[in-house]
Amino acid sequence: MVVSGATIDSLLKEKEQYPPSAAFRKKAVVKDDAFRLDAAKDPEAFWARMAKELAWIAPWSKVLEWNLPFAKWFVGGKLNVSANCLDRHLSGARRNKAAIVWEGEPGERRVLTYHDLWREVNRFANVLKGLGVKKGDRVTIYLPMIPELPVALLACARIGAVHSVIFGGFSARAIRDRAADAESHVIVTADGGYRRGAVLPLKKIVDEAIDGLDVVRHVVVFRRTGVEVTMREGRDRWWHELMTKADGECAAESMDATDPLFILYTSGTTGKPKGIQHSTGGYLVGVATTTRYVFDLKEEDLFWCTADIGWVTGHSYIVYGPLANGASIFMYEGAPDWPEPDRFWRMIEEYDITTLYTAPTAIRAFMRWGDEYPKRHDLSSLRLLGTVGEPINPEAWRWYQKTIGGGRCPIVDTWWQTETGMILITPLPGITTLKPGSATFPFPGVSAEVVDEKGDPVPVNKGGYLVISKPWPAMLQTLYKDPERFKQVYWSQIPGKYFTGDGARVDEDGCFWLMGRIDDVINVAGHRIGTMEVESALVSHPKVAEAAVVGRPDPLKGQVLVAYVVLKRGEAGSDSLRQELREHVRREIGAIAAPEALYITDKLPKTRSGKIMRRVIRSLVSGQEIGDTTTLEDPGAVDEVRKWLAEVEARKS
Ligand code: WTA
Repeated sequence: MVVSGATIDSLLKEKEQYPPSAAFRKKAVVKDDAFRLDAAKDPEAFWARMAKELAWIAPWSKVLEWNLPFAKWFVGGKLNVSANCLDRHLSGARRNKAAIVWEGEPGERRVLTYHDLWREVNRFANVLKGLGVKKGDRVTIYLPMIPELPVALLACARIGAVHSVIFGGFSARAIRDRAADAESHVIVTADGGYRRGAVLPLKKIVDEAIDGLDVVRHVVVFRRTGVEVTMREGRDRWWHELMTKADGECAAESMDATDPLFILYTSGTTGKPKGIQHSTGGYLVGVATTTRYVFDLKEEDLFWCTADIGWVTGHSYIVYGPLANGASIFMYEGAPDWPEPDRFWRMIEEYDITTLYTAPTAIRAFMRWGDEYPKRHDLSSLRLLGTVGEPINPEAWRWYQKTIGGGRCPIVDTWWQTETGMILITPLPGITTLKPGSATFPFPGVSAEVVDEKGDPVPVNKGGYLVISKPWPAMLQTLYKDPERFKQVYWSQIPGKYFTGDGARVDEDGCFWLMGRIDDVINVAGHRIGTMEVESALVSHPKVAEAAVVGRPDPLKGQVLVAYVVLKRGEAGSDSLRQELREHVRREIGAIAAPEALYITDKLPKTRSGKIMRRVIRSLVSGQEIGDTTTLEDPGAVDEVRKWLAEVEARKS
């Protein structure tokens, strides 16, 4: 094997270790290993202890009922999530503590105390009831990052409705598919949202999405920007008008711990998004516990998770985890480089934010914009940093640690998924020695392993599949309306274990190193996109016969999408058609799914049985080694694909 100087360098650097400082450890929520050891002895007892921190209407009779692959946590227990996030904080000092500190992109500020937030949520819960929403009904939410977004989530939770949040960057088509699948009678949206000074016309997109979709009976519209919107008589209602008429108090519904709290659609390896369904009790226990221990939560913290609530990170670590702990959260509406690339650092300085949780892709963008922007500001209020969404490259880790954290703040690199609901692999900042690029250890009470295709553990430092071998409280319950697919996607590869779809290795100290997805899901700027979804969007264009979409590593975005398209007979490729196809994907799925490069070609390389050789294309495009070619019917295929790629590249069309 030839090992270049650069490789040796990176291997050496990966050996770098950062033990917690004595100062941090002294004040940390977890100061020693007893917490972890205790959990390992009896995970169920550990989770039951954590669950007792919440307010229950009725106690559970059984901590875990495990009928593989369906896990029920806290069976028989009753609680309400909004009462846990709001009501129970009202009787003490947190009543007038800030729950949400918000800044809009144009610069307005709003602070909602726990009491304020409780009032808004109660009223909006009554608004939903007034529109006919009942326990168990699904409500679709398509809002910008404004306080009304957590208000809408908590209002659903208050009355036992199941929310389905759709990220504001998704297109009309994506909303239509999701609202139809969830059979939502009500959609909550805004006239628009701000992004880089422009207004994204959310209500207009919703109008297009639900045109002819009769299941949607009402659209509630919050006036955020003042852009003109068309209100359809009988269907569309203004948020502010409904709120003034609604009653100020709404009793919190008593929910079973196993009732669903929300659905969140995410990409899979087929064209159809999966409705990940999460529970009430187990989910809240999982996110409340991890928020407290992973982020070393203190009463006086101002916690900023920069994700959009349209993704699971925002559900778990903006809304439910922090609010269940009575924390103050910071929320920002817009772009990090608006009006200048120092926006984040300016807000950290102005509000004295203590904890910053963001994505490696954002960190790489900040690095590229230059050190001058963070250097303009005093970031000394920060005491803890976090990352999520993809593996963080050690360079970005070191930059984050030094330039943003001033060398003083631990970094928690947290591995988890929409499906897992909560962080599963992560440092505990008071006790874990950090290694740049490693998410380190499973959270206490969580069993993670790296195995081969037979399910046997692989040796130290050897790559394999990351699986979770025991149920954890915030695990997905099922795929909405599709338990068969739930079994097949997560539980059929390695019998008895949850299949994450990620590759990983465990080093000599037991630290986990994540190696990315092993299926056809790729990670663009920290967001999961199924390449099949993009393929089906391309093929839905009238001029396209076939398409193959693969991921290619990208220094900034982690991965980008590369599309190979075969046109229908008689159609000719051109720059404008390529542009049109990228636009088409944007419309069908959203801007994040638009391929970075799009090649038009006469044919796609296929196996003899007619399958597109995506795996080979993907490996060659990413410059990776081709793993096992024995499963290819024709080992000469690799050369064939290599030749095909060279031709496609040469044509540059
Ligand atoms: C990837 C986001 C390495 C992984 C919470 C996972 C990570 C997918 C990390 C889930 C991390 C997330 N290190 N990879 N710290 N965090 N991933 O569902 O491939 O949007 O399977 O959930 O992101 O993405 P999702």
